[in-house]
Formats: sequence, C-alpha cells, structure tokens
Amino acid sequence: MTAPTSDTIVSVIADILTRRGADSYLGEAVTMQQHMLQAATRAEREGAPDELVAAALLHDIGHYTGEFGDDYIAQGVDNFHEEAGAALLAPFFPPVVVECVRLHVAAKRYLCATDPEYFGKLSPASVATLALQGGPMEPDEVRAFERNPFHREAVRGRIWDDGAKDPDAETPPFAHFAPALRRVVTRHAAAR
Ligand SMILES: [Fe+2]
Repeated sequence: MTAPTSDTIVSVIADILTRRGADSYLGEAVTMQQHMLQAATRAEREGAPDELVAAALLHDIGHYTGEFGDDYIAQGVDNFHEEAGAALLAPFFPPVVVECVRLHVAAKRYLCATDPEYFGKLSPASVATLALQGGPMEPDEVRAFERNPFHREAVRGRIWDDGAKDPDAETPPFAHFAPALRRVVTRHAAAR
C-alpha cells in the first residue's frame, strides 16, 4: 500500500474499519467497530470538540498497524497498540489527538491510582489487561502524567473508551464522523 497522505488518511481509516471492524475487541462483547463508534458517539454527545471526537474514534487504531504496510511503520515502533496508534496518526493529526491515543492506557493506570471508584467500573477484560500494563500508577508516574499538557483530554477520552463496550448501544455509522476527522486533518495540514 502506498503511504497515506493528509488527503487520503480518512479514506484509509474508513477502509480499514469496513474490512476489519467486525474483529472482536479483546474479550469484550462488542466488535472493534462498535467500540470505536461508541467512544466517538459519547464524545460527540458531550459536545466535545472535533479533535476529541477524532481521538475517541481512533484510540485503538494501533491494533491495525499491519494495515498500514511495513514501510510505513517507522522502525522502532513497538507492539504496544497505544504507541503504534499514536505513531500512525502523528503525521496527520494535531498533538492533542496523538497524545490522547498515546496516553489512553496510561490514563487507565492514572485513574486507577487517583479515583477510588474508577477500578470498580472497569470491564473484566480491562481489569485483566491492567496487570499486564503495569497496574495502577505509582505516585511519581502520576506526577509525570499530570505534566503532560493533554492529560485532562486523555482522561476524558479514557472515560468514553471505558463506556464504549455496550453490545446494545446504537451509534451513527463511521460516515457520520468522517467530516469531523477531515476537518481535524485539514486544519492540522493548514497549520503546518
Ligand atoms: Fe478502547
């Protein structure tokens, strides 16, 4: 596959979701596509800006790195899906989107350390991966996380992520969100 550009990235993402969206989502009762659309729908219903709707929609895109072709993935991108997703999006999306994607696992670890009620709201699959991901943050990790200028946005995104696992939830299709994605990509390209 030729490398995506700012003009093609939204179509590339749409194509991936069309072909791969039915993949199961890590032991949850929803497909990847349901999960991504539900997260974006929650962001939109809260009146979040385009950038955070985009981040909610794309936070797990790193599970599809293989779709972007070997050449496109810079060497050194590891298998952690949050880092891979951020690296995929970084050429096209502004830092707030990239950081929300990169921090979405860290935000879970942060919330486990700082919000006493948060852990009880996690799905069983999300509890199971928490240990693999390092468990709740230590105090020094909490301080480092809070120094990231986008940590509040990342926490909002994490709450939408956690709430996006309902097999019965209705959402608009991807096409509903594509214009917001295009606006974010176009603004970012114009600002560079
Ligand atoms: Fe997710």
